[in-house]
Amino acid sequence: MKVSIVGTGYVGLITGCCLSEIGHVVTCIDKDPNKIQQLQNGNIPIYEPDLDSILKKNMESNRLFFTDDIIGAVRAAEVIFIAVGTPMSESGDVDLTSVYAVANDIAPYLNNNVTIAIKSTVPVGTCEEINKIIRSFRGEEIVYNVVSNPEFLREGSAVYDAMNPDRIIIGSTDQRGLDVMKQLYNKYNCPIIETTLNASEMIKYASNAFLATKISFINAMSNLCEKLDVDITMISKGIGLDKRIGPHFLNAGVGYGGSCFPKDVKALITAAKEEGYDFKLLKEVEEVNASQRKIIVQKVLKYLLNKQGSVGVLGLAFKPNTDDMREAPSIFVIKQLQEHGIEIKAYDPIVKEQVYNHITNIKNCKEVYGALEGVDVIVLMTEWPIFLELDWEKISGLVRKKVVIDARNALNPMMLKNYGFIYEGMGRVIN
Ligand code: UDX
Repeated sequence: MKVSIVGTGYVGLITGCCLSEIGHVVTCIDKDPNKIQQLQNGNIPIYEPDLDSILKKNMESNRLFFTDDIIGAVRAAEVIFIAVGTPMSESGDVDLTSVYAVANDIAPYLNNNVTIAIKSTVPVGTCEEINKIIRSFRGEEIVYNVVSNPEFLREGSAVYDAMNPDRIIIGSTDQRGLDVMKQLYNKYNCPIIETTLNASEMIKYASNAFLATKISFINAMSNLCEKLDVDITMISKGIGLDKRIGPHFLNAGVGYGGSCFPKDVKALITAAKEEGYDFKLLKEVEEVNASQRKIIVQKVLKYLLNKQGSVGVLGLAFKPNTDDMREAPSIFVIKQLQEHGIEIKAYDPIVKEQVYNHITNIKNCKEVYGALEGVDVIVLMTEWPIFLELDWEKISGLVRKKVVIDARNALNPMMLKNYGFIYEGMGRVIN
């Protein structure tokens, strides 16, 4: 099928590459000509494992194209995805400016029988609004469908997630929209949920809010376990084997960051409030998440006499296998320590210059051991694989004091104790 995708951010770019991978002819559209030029040259503006190869392969096979000519790309398409950003506004509302702007831009040029698929994460009722916008331009002139088709891509494994979805969600007002999308996804063998527009939009928010809730639950448990001298990793193992719970998203630590969970949890709380429902549970999920990073700050300060000294931060990204620092817990922790006059050195395998978009007065070292030289406390903020294979004997000779605060419970407490380090995790027991 001929597909056009408006928006070449994480979601649009990965969706376009993977739809071309399964045989569709895809044109990705962005209003930024420089970004389009970069992509046409095969250069990817984001760090995402496996994206480079799948992009180049499908460009070479003439199944994947990039353009800033939205009119031409829209006119040629059977399915048009809207995959532009829906950031959080100050009030916690979702900013739909870009989504509605795209709807207005494409409406005059839509072909008869086109399907417009909303891939952006949008509040319940948005697809209906987009339908009204298009109807206001075209009346009964053309037959078209607006469908909801949310994504569930995780940064760092987005290509895998796009090629191996657990399920595909399609919301539509009629069977035609469902049939077109089932044809588009006919190469996948996962369950396809056919539902209403509103339900599809809500499934996305409920999915992220539940995952965030699961993380805040295990984090709250880690705080209690720390007081009872119980190791939280044992609790995660013990409950995770229950098929109704599952082992994933039970890693206690400094909590969630990223461009999705914070935004989507806040959006659901705000949407509920507008409907007169006080979503206390999700407010507590936010509270717990916000407190985890404060606990890390206190753990670090505890080992700095008169709150003087230097700290070596291992990891800046909000999670491994990405260069994304949006809402990364490292930002809060580093800024808090800097407010106490603590000198910060850091190392992240991927995050380099972009750290300065979020944090100033930080020495972002080129190699990991340089970030630990002469420090009083080491704090691991992101569980990059490289940090699990460090030479702690060498580190013993580099640091001023042997203290490790493991904000991701990623390290082996006994191994560190054997090298003479004081180790503190989140709900960890060293015996
Ligand atoms: C998330 C959802 O997983 C994805 O389905 C949705 O489309 C977008 O939002 P993402 O934010 O990219 O994906 O990463 P994810 O792997 O979900 O991690 C989110 C945050 O939770 C990270 O900060 C991670 O460190 C944290 N996390 C995750 C935990 O603290 N504990 C866990 O056990 C798992």
